[in-house]
Amino acid sequence: MDDAAALVVESLTKVFRQQTAVDHISFRVARGRFFGFLGPNGAGKSTTIRMLTGLLRPTAGDAVVEGSRLSRDVLAVKRRIGVLTEDLALYERLTAEEHLLFAARMYGLPRDEARRRTEELLEFLSLADERSKLVVDFSLGMRKKLALACTLVHNPRLIFLDEPLNGIDPVSGRVVMDLLQRLARRGVTLFFTSHVLDVVERLCDEVAVIDRGRIVAQGTLEEIRAQRELGGDASLEDVFLKLVDADVHREDLSWIG
Ligand SMILES: Nc1ncnc2c1ncn2[C@@H]1O[C@H](COP(=O)(O)OP(=O)(O)OP(=O)(O)O)[C@@H](O)[C@H]1O
Ligand SMILES: [Mg+2]
Repeated sequence: MDDAAALVVESLTKVFRQQTAVDHISFRVARGRFFGFLGPNGAGKSTTIRMLTGLLRPTAGDAVVEGSRLSRDVLAVKRRIGVLTEDLALYERLTAEEHLLFAARMYGLPRDEARRRTEELLEFLSLADERSKLVVDFSLGMRKKLALACTLVHNPRLIFLDEPLNGIDPVSGRVVMDLLQRLARRGVTLFFTSHVLDVVERLCDEVAVIDRGRIVAQGTLEEIRAQRELGGDASLEDVFLKLVDADVHREDLSWIG
């Protein structure tokens, strides 16, 4: 096992009925990296995250997550990581405050510490005024912020974030991004998906691009540009469109003149 790696993915595969959603992907992520996982809709990003966080059983392959092998000790993996899933699975009938306290206690934090962190996170994410509101009455952005707070409360060393910015207002977006950058500087590993490529370009040290279940590139933006013989001024968006072979010059819709 490579001690410098937070994540080693070994030929991970998921087949849903006949369809291969994730097709023998292998890569590693070094500790403390801000790692962007990119790809078009349906490429297999969320399926990969769900497998790596113990939410979905792989059809084949395995991974070592923060030193624990997924197939052997999924609970050890779950204890050490934080995950923000795409579907924000939250308990609708709890208030924001109850929800966060519950998450903290489930991760084994003592009562006082759980209270302290709950207070700080509610304040930090501008949810303090909504603390007594039921989750069922939350807006999309408020849900995302609460889910994010639950992801961070136990101070995980590796955090998976599936589209963390989607639906969050610019002010909170900035707060969240600043926090994630601070965590990365303190050695926390971030595994991050986003379709907002200029944000990814600004934040991530390294990216992997998945297309139709396969990794088509991995490295720093400079490395990928060099591999693909793209000029130094090619943006991540240019690189992305090239890699996923996007047909950006589609025919117009027949009924639109
Ligand atoms: N539970 C499931 N049952 C059947 N097919 C599924 C299931 N979950 C995902 N898929 C399929 O697997 C493929 C990959 O889906 P996935 O959600 O991983 O894509 P994604 O890269 O996260 O896309 P997006 O950018 O739209 O979030 C898609 O074709 C999807 O329809
Ligand atoms: Mg997804």
